[in-house]
Amino acid sequence: MKKLLITGGAGFIGSECIRQGVKRGYKIIAADKLTYAGDMERIREVERDIVFYNTDIANKEVVTHIFKKEKPDAVVHWAAESHVDRSIMDASPFLETNIKGTQVLLEAAKNCGVERLINISTDEVYGELGKDGQFFETTPLNPNSPYSVSKASQDMLGRAYYRTYGLPVITVRPSNNYGPWQYPEKLIPVVILKAINNEKIPVYGKGENIREWLFASDCVEAVFLILEKGTIGEAYNIGSGEEKRNVEVVKHILQILGKSDRLIEFTKDRPGHDFRYSLNSEKIRKQLDWQSQVYFQDGIEKTVRWYVDNIGWVNKKLEYLTTYWSMAYK
Ligand SMILES: NC(=O)c1ccc[n+]([C@@H]2O[C@H](COP(=O)([O-])OP(=O)(O)OC[C@H]3O[C@@H](n4cnc5c(N)ncnc54)[C@H](O)[C@@H]3O)[C@@H](O)[C@H]2O)c1
Repeated sequence: MKKLLITGGAGFIGSECIRQGVKRGYKIIAADKLTYAGDMERIREVERDIVFYNTDIANKEVVTHIFKKEKPDAVVHWAAESHVDRSIMDASPFLETNIKGTQVLLEAAKNCGVERLINISTDEVYGELGKDGQFFETTPLNPNSPYSVSKASQDMLGRAYYRTYGLPVITVRPSNNYGPWQYPEKLIPVVILKAINNEKIPVYGKGENIREWLFASDCVEAVFLILEKGTIGEAYNIGSGEEKRNVEVVKHILQILGKSDRLIEFTKDRPGHDFRYSLNSEKIRKQLDWQSQVYFQDGIEKTVRWYVDNIGWVNKKLEYLTTYWSMAYK
């Protein structure tokens, strides 16, 4: 049985990675600082099957201790400050966790030795597209927000540790994820909750910005394929191919909930808001035979149902969301 260290395991996608990892028979070690975005509730059902460290990945002593004690065979690095709007208000935690934290993790992995380290980046590192075109793994990085700059730095640090020290890093760049358990500051859960409460739904600009929506379980399945069969030193895009304008996503959710489009309220655009992201995911499809399993139509229904059924969890989160509440796009 392989030992897998998962950072950010109490987060939205990291927790799905733990659940799938346990099912796949990995011995899971998780490390998470439990920031506002982390929550042990997400991994309650597998808590007894894993070893959990409540730690900051930027803490060199603790991270080194974890590597020495647990001797993981591989690492999947999800831990990050992940919300663009927060990075616009204050970039410093993004630099601390996404850049310094990643460097501490890479250094410990280099010193202790691992078979593979999956460095989770994002489609946002490529910058912005117009109506046409796609990002390939070879597209130069051109990030625009403090968040995406911190992620591009994380991404390039992984490359540097591979090129300079031979650390077996694979870089993964997924598109926008959605699904159960996402913290209610990101577009989809915000819209669902506002709609349930018959509150106005703030939509940046005219809602024309386009994102490619990937169900979180599909993203994690792709990451396990890359972990097990991907080529060391390379990068992989993970996208569903399902591009939607933000306003389309909002209207779709309103329709599922039987609510009126009149709840939509267009607001001043996010500063530096990238217009469109679109990944070319041929590499993972052809090389690793991956395909997303969940169509947006079904995934969004499942997601809306989950939030309706788990409104108690979400309401607990709302206590923390005051000033951020109306600025909710990833
Ligand atoms: N959500 C998306 O649409 C998306 C898309 C592409 C890439 N990503 C990347 O995937 C990863 C996971 O995203 P998510 O949406 O699950 O994020 P999230 O915000 O839900 O979870 C992040 C987790 O990291 C933990 N964390 C934060 N700072 C930490 C630190 N210093 N030390 C240890 N743990 C820390 C948090 O407590 C939380 O549990 C991130 O790296 C993100 O950049 C996300």
